[in-house]
Amino acid sequence: MRKWMLQRTTEAAMTPPVNDSQAPLPTAVRWSHAVLSPRLQKGDIVVDATAGNGHDTLFLAQQVLPGGQVFAFDVQAPAVESTRKRLAGHPFSAEEITLIHSSHEHLGVRLPPELRGHVRAFMFNLGFLPGGDKKLITQTQGTMSALSQALDWLAEGGLLSVVAYPGHEGGRDEAEAIEHWLMTLSSDAFEAQKIGFLNFRPTTPFCMVVRKRTSQPPARDQTFSGE
Ligand SMILES: C[S@@+](CC[C@H](N)C(=O)[O-])C[C@H]1O[C@@H](n2cnc3c(N)ncnc32)[C@H](O)[C@@H]1O
Repeated sequence: MRKWMLQRTTEAAMTPPVNDSQAPLPTAVRWSHAVLSPRLQKGDIVVDATAGNGHDTLFLAQQVLPGGQVFAFDVQAPAVESTRKRLAGHPFSAEEITLIHSSHEHLGVRLPPELRGHVRAFMFNLGFLPGGDKKLITQTQGTMSALSQALDWLAEGGLLSVVAYPGHEGGRDEAEAIEHWLMTLSSDAFEAQKIGFLNFRPTTPFCMVVRKRTSQPPARDQTFSGE
């Protein structure tokens, strides 16, 4: 049975079981978890670029700890505190999780330099802090800078997920900028996907995922499937 079918986080509302036959289709956040989960393992290095209330940081920690390293950025002190509280009830070692009160734009100087090229996953869950000031949102320029740095820090085979919120002011421009940029990525070096609802309001959040290709030649069956 696949790993993601077995996993149950304590944040049931964030990551309900994906294999529930009666479940509605996954939301953007659930998609990001569902794509990452089977590709992460204990010992991996991962980064939550927008810690917020810590749901994604907890999700990442549950995938890679013990043995791995989790880094989580947020520009807002209340978000860092909220994330710290969410992690507190779990048996993680303090050395394995680093909460960074800083913009993800600075990830290139805040992450340990030896980890460049070794990060297995970055998560960007954009927008504002739920329950916080809705005017403090991710900004297109900063997000684009952080995303572009993140691709550089990804390991081969590593994943980057983005949950975009076109519903709030500036959110649509940010989402479109990311989407257009992802369309320009070399398909020899990256795979990029967009996952979202087609018949919901256009303001509905959607998910984008990038995978950094490995430099190894594709397996024989992939060659024949047109990859
Ligand atoms: C939708 S929330 C993230 C939700 C979070 N991942 C969770 O699981 O609860 C977006 C967060 O991005 C943060 N943020 C905004 N600009 C940022 C930046 N430049 N760098 C890092 N975090 C930022 C906000 O403070 C907010 O907490």
